[in-house]
Amino acid sequence: MAFSGMPWNRKDLISIESLNVEEIETIFETAEAFKKILNRKTAKTPALRGKTVVNLFFEPSTRTRVAFEMAANRLSADILSLDMKTSSTTKGETLRDTVDTITALQADIIVIRHSAPGSAGYIAGVVDLPVLNAGDGAHEHPTQALLDCFTLREKWGSLKDRKIAILGDILYSRVARSNIWAMTKLGAEVTLVGPSTLVPHEFEQMGVKVSHDLKSALEDKEAVMLLRIQHERQNASAFPSLNEYTSMFGLNKTRLSWLKKDAIIMHPGPINRGVEIDSELADSDQSVILEQVTNGLAIRMAALYLCSGGKAEAVASD
Ligand code: CP
Repeated sequence: MAFSGMPWNRKDLISIESLNVEEIETIFETAEAFKKILNRKTAKTPALRGKTVVNLFFEPSTRTRVAFEMAANRLSADILSLDMKTSSTTKGETLRDTVDTITALQADIIVIRHSAPGSAGYIAGVVDLPVLNAGDGAHEHPTQALLDCFTLREKWGSLKDRKIAILGDILYSRVARSNIWAMTKLGAEVTLVGPSTLVPHEFEQMGVKVSHDLKSALEDKEAVMLLRIQHERQNASAFPSLNEYTSMFGLNKTRLSWLKKDAIIMHPGPINRGVEIDSELADSDQSVILEQVTNGLAIRMAALYLCSGGKAEAVASD
């Protein structure tokens, strides 16, 4: 496969905001090549043999943590996932001291999830190692947006001029922010929809439409991404109750029919079944939720490989 992207010159992956379209395309092409390797009988490459990846997850995670672990494994790297509940951070050690300790133990790559916006960028600025942001507060979750857009690119070829709705808790969502950057950079037309308390008009400054009317927002859309309500990041309730949220904004069969025929249903997970989406729709043929998870493996392999100095063209021609 010929590589048509541009060389990757970053040691870190902190945000989608900082990437240009060519860099996003380079990650996609590298992920495509790794996906082919994953489909082989021996789904492994020696690309990162001898390297050690350390997962520092200060917030809960299933998909992202396990996908980074599996990605490191498929690249033949060693992987260490620290249990932050039993680490010395519980004794008052600072994030900087934890990271300096990991560095002194000769880690090669750090993957970090933290509740503080900007924490991944801060760490990337103080260590020489590659740092990959696995979610920093409500700021960004770059590999999630990359795998989401990669999934749509597989379906459509390109996101250019495609109409996508993101429905739910936008205000507190790092997934929404990263996807807004990624989808708009790739030429999609994005509409944010949900209660006004969770979807403020300020987001229009990011080049998207904002709507509080579900029917008109969904009418011409070819894909809808559901987001869960981020209880852990809300100080006060933005709506009276979850039941009322579901009755006004939950995706059900009737509301699905407002979208374009065969529209794609997406969700980054974890899903709150029966809250933002009816269970049968989450499991329907229109849902790509598990394809998103699977694509997360190739995307994280690409991110680990490129940030470690790997050359996209070397995998693309493999
Ligand atoms: N989408 C996502 O970040 O899921 P996890 O919290 O399970 O990693």
